[in-house]
Amino acid sequence: MTEKPERRFVVEPGGALSGTLQVPGDKSISHRAVMLGAIAEGETAVSGFLDGDDAMATLAAMRALGVAIDGPEQGRLRIQGVGLRGLQAAAGALDLGNSGTSMRLLAGLLAGQRFASRLVGDRSLMKRPMRRVTEPLARMGANIHTEPSGTAPLVIEPVAALEGIDYPLPVASAQVKSALLLAGLYASGETRVTEPAVTRDHTERMLEAFGADVRVAGSQVSVRGGGSLQGGAVVVPGDISSAAFFLVGASIAGTGPLTLTNLGLNPTRTGVIDILQRMGARIHVERERSGAGEPVATLTVEPSRLQGIAIPPDRVPLAIDEFPALFIAAACAEGETTLTGAEELRVKESDRIAVMADGLGALGIQAEPTPDGIRIVGGPVRGGHIQARGDHRIAMAFAMAGLVADAPITIDGCSEVDTSFPGFVDRAREAGLRIRSEEGGA
Ligand code: S3P
Repeated sequence: MTEKPERRFVVEPGGALSGTLQVPGDKSISHRAVMLGAIAEGETAVSGFLDGDDAMATLAAMRALGVAIDGPEQGRLRIQGVGLRGLQAAAGALDLGNSGTSMRLLAGLLAGQRFASRLVGDRSLMKRPMRRVTEPLARMGANIHTEPSGTAPLVIEPVAALEGIDYPLPVASAQVKSALLLAGLYASGETRVTEPAVTRDHTERMLEAFGADVRVAGSQVSVRGGGSLQGGAVVVPGDISSAAFFLVGASIAGTGPLTLTNLGLNPTRTGVIDILQRMGARIHVERERSGAGEPVATLTVEPSRLQGIAIPPDRVPLAIDEFPALFIAAACAEGETTLTGAEELRVKESDRIAVMADGLGALGIQAEPTPDGIRIVGGPVRGGHIQARGDHRIAMAFAMAGLVADAPITIDGCSEVDTSFPGFVDRAREAGLRIRSEEGGA
């Protein structure tokens, strides 16, 4: 639960974005590769693994649970799977840092074990809602507890067995769906999860690749417990959520083109491309191949004049992590952009609606938060002082605003950028952004 030293970004006006860039590996797929590799039979070789703090927290947790893992070395891991019943009790609490995905998915994976676990995290993670996973897990027979406020520490007591349930998800959440599917591997009978809207399906895809008895029928995913998983090769593509900052930056910068290679283009993650294209962005998609059940592509972005739009609510779960970047696009668009049906943004690494609205206001952009979204009126972006409040995606989104601002933008609270995008500042500089990172800031 150690907090990191403070970091701030300073972005000078006059930058550009062009050339070719490869973003680091997909965070969601990296987490799942480590977890499934750990409980599979035999060895799993992962390439393209994201060695950011979040996926590294999952890796450290699996090591603490008795799994031998070599790496990461240039994105490569070798995981010696211990089988579904081979995990062992950790010596102490599992500290998952800033990572909601680690905590929620591990809650599912550990709920059916015959040993106890305790899950903790940093200040931000210890404030995030956890009943959304503990409540359905308890219905499966897990002995799992939050604080009275519904937050971590999560305390999991040993159980002899879990039972499959039929669960309609009250919120569209891939983390909750995945937690239940992982618990379902340890449950008798079938565990069925029905989604209110499509969310990222990396767990289903990877479970299938590892040979689990998993089925998808419309909005329902089911898994049968009691089988075994087979380790193999996992090739992790680049993270579309990290690319999102550059898709927006290259659209608004008036320079370019910018090409992004080796990007994961899972259809449950492409909302950001769809929304930007509706706003008038010129993004060309060249499909390449399918790696480990995940489509991969090269994208080329040309500068464009963006128009404000009403973002269709059914696109929200498909772009859930990309709204900080999309709000910067909206600030640079002509007219008004409205977002509704996005109340989940209020319980991410920060309250992304409030923190983005404050930051946009500090840059002279009219941004009115609503309970489930925001209204942003595009206009000239001024320089100014932003608080990213330790939210990695907000820090990177405001860095892109520096491409169009009339004076420097200083962004405090950037120490968590390494959770999802180690090397962000170097890569952004290479592409032409005039950014530097300094110690300090609030
Ligand atoms: C994730 C699911 C999403 C997303 C998060 C990663 C995952 O969270 O915001 O960054 O890997 O399953 P929710 O399930 O809370 O929407």
